[in-house]
Amino acid sequence: MITADTMLTRKSVRTFDGRPLEEATAQKLKTFAAGAENPFDIPVTFVFLDAKEKGLSSPVLTGEPLYVAGKVPKVPYGDVACGFSMEALLLYAWSLGVGSVWIGGTMKRELFAAAAELGEGERMPCVSPLGYPAAKRSLREAIMRRGVDADSRLPREKLFFQENFDTPLSAADDLLELVRWAPSAVNKQPWRVILRNGTYHFYLKHDRGYVSDAVGDMQKIDLGIALCHFVLGAREKGLSPAVDVSDPAIAAPDGVEYIASVTLA
Ligand SMILES: Cc1cc2nc3c(=O)[nH]c(=O)nc-3n(C[C@H](O)[C@H](O)[C@H](O)COP(=O)(O)O)c2cc1C
Repeated sequence: MITADTMLTRKSVRTFDGRPLEEATAQKLKTFAAGAENPFDIPVTFVFLDAKEKGLSSPVLTGEPLYVAGKVPKVPYGDVACGFSMEALLLYAWSLGVGSVWIGGTMKRELFAAAAELGEGERMPCVSPLGYPAAKRSLREAIMRRGVDADSRLPREKLFFQENFDTPLSAADDLLELVRWAPSAVNKQPWRVILRNGTYHFYLKHDRGYVSDAVGDMQKIDLGIALCHFVLGAREKGLSPAVDVSDPAIAAPDGVEYIASVTLA
């Protein structure tokens, strides 16, 4: 089961111990993947790829036995949907003791696309290894984590607001804390959230260099991940989060784009 604790203890894993997944665990992940949903009702298809059999690797990884690739149609919100569904899968994996890391850059994309049989009209924004974490991180992984300050996040005053973008949210919020600790590409944490009249409006603060035809917008994947943490956290509290995409037309700074809103009932 995915809980707040799953989200707060999760870390990217790039150093694995080489063991294949136990059969029962692999089966649970495949079943979860086949039923993974997202609030946008855009189908995300997961393909599991044996690393050795398919000759797949990444320069940042060691000892990974398996990969999962997420495929999504090239439609608006496809990248956000992929972020949501795939994060749910990777959190579920973590709850079973299986490590992963989102990989959108450090891979030979064409090899993974061929192995995942990516079709016309589809994107495969990211892949992830799946395996058991090694006892100790590789030196390369330790250096990478330091390079992006992977154990830190921006303070909540920089991320979360009330009414408008000039007023930081005054009170701490458990669900937004789950968003704050979500993973993001290069740990940029591009999510911004405004709470107004009981609704949480999610925005993307764009950085340059994250849009391509192969991926869509990598930072919209990050927004899907953030929404996933918020929605799953709300469900764990017994709430029924409703996600919609009707822009509340709040004045936003340059480079900040509205993505979606969540109302809790
Ligand atoms: C959409 C996305 C793409 C990412 N791409 C890569 C990648 O190509 N290579 C890599 O080593 N890490 C990648 N990461 C992992 C981030 O660097 C990592 O999540 C971040 O530094 C925070 O660390 P943590 O996940 O341990 O909290 C990616 C993360 C996301 C969300």
